[in-house]
Amino acid sequence: MSTIYFDTHLGDEERRRRLYSGDVFVYSPRPSTKALTEFARSLIEDAFAPLDPVHAQDSLPVERFVEIVGPLKPRFIHHPRTQELLLELLRDLGCDMEKTYFDVPRMRVATSGGYLTAGVAYVLHPHRDIWYSSPPCQLNWWLPVYPFESESSFAFHQKYWDAPVKNSSHEYNHYEWNRTGRANASKEVKADTRKQPKPPKPLEPLELEPEFRVVVPPGGLILFSGAHLHSTVPNTSGRSRFSIDFRTAHLDELKALGGAPSIDRECTGTTLFELRRASDLAPVPEEVIRLYDPNPPEDREGLVYKPAAAVPAGGM
Ligand SMILES: [Fe+2]
Repeated sequence: MSTIYFDTHLGDEERRRRLYSGDVFVYSPRPSTKALTEFARSLIEDAFAPLDPVHAQDSLPVERFVEIVGPLKPRFIHHPRTQELLLELLRDLGCDMEKTYFDVPRMRVATSGGYLTAGVAYVLHPHRDIWYSSPPCQLNWWLPVYPFESESSFAFHQKYWDAPVKNSSHEYNHYEWNRTGRANASKEVKADTRKQPKPPKPLEPLELEPEFRVVVPPGGLILFSGAHLHSTVPNTSGRSRFSIDFRTAHLDELKALGGAPSIDRECTGTTLFELRRASDLAPVPEEVIRLYDPNPPEDREGLVYKPAAAVPAGGM
């Protein structure tokens, strides 16, 4: 069974070992995490001013809400301050900066009551992030920007940590997704009409209970393996939930094809082109990338998705 560790004294090696056996690590807000979520909050509040962002959905037509959130996300994602704060957070939480690779952080919004269920706030089926071509050693770092409750959280379905799920990840190719799948997300308002490619999803009925959810204050952190089956809870809290998340992978597991068990992952391509080394922003070494995709396409630049206003793969 999984264990939830609060504010652990364990170092990164042992923490990773336990994350890869399904444990979840939770941290109280601390200066480095709060700096990142408070910076996000300042951008969110600038974008929605004079409205309170968590209640803005009550007074804005959904089209207007999308117009605000669309440019807000890339502003946060690509802001130089965002990257500085993310690196400070990794250092503070004990990561080896020479061996830790990270992706740009994403900002997500989960509106309440089905106000916005497509495009920029697309709600994901139960999924493992590793179905989206990320390596089995991917770790997910998730932080809320505002207070939230169980009714607007995400759920872990721990029964499936070591039980395979019949799923459509064999249809998922990360390069194709970057080229076509996400580009249209910001245009979607009511119904999600994206046809190809489809996000990977379970192809069999699941026993989603028992599940567990973790609720932390703003600036709190939930750290978990990208192999966990998880899903966004339909938000019935009456308030929009804003969160930040990003992904990391450690060179030792990358080289060893290690990490969490990969029991039902059949996707193709790799997200490793998108990661950068924490110490100097160097890309993942070519020989390591080839362990995950022996024949990567030559059009590297075209492969690396530049988030404009779209939905990141494997959200929560
Ligand atoms: Fe996810």
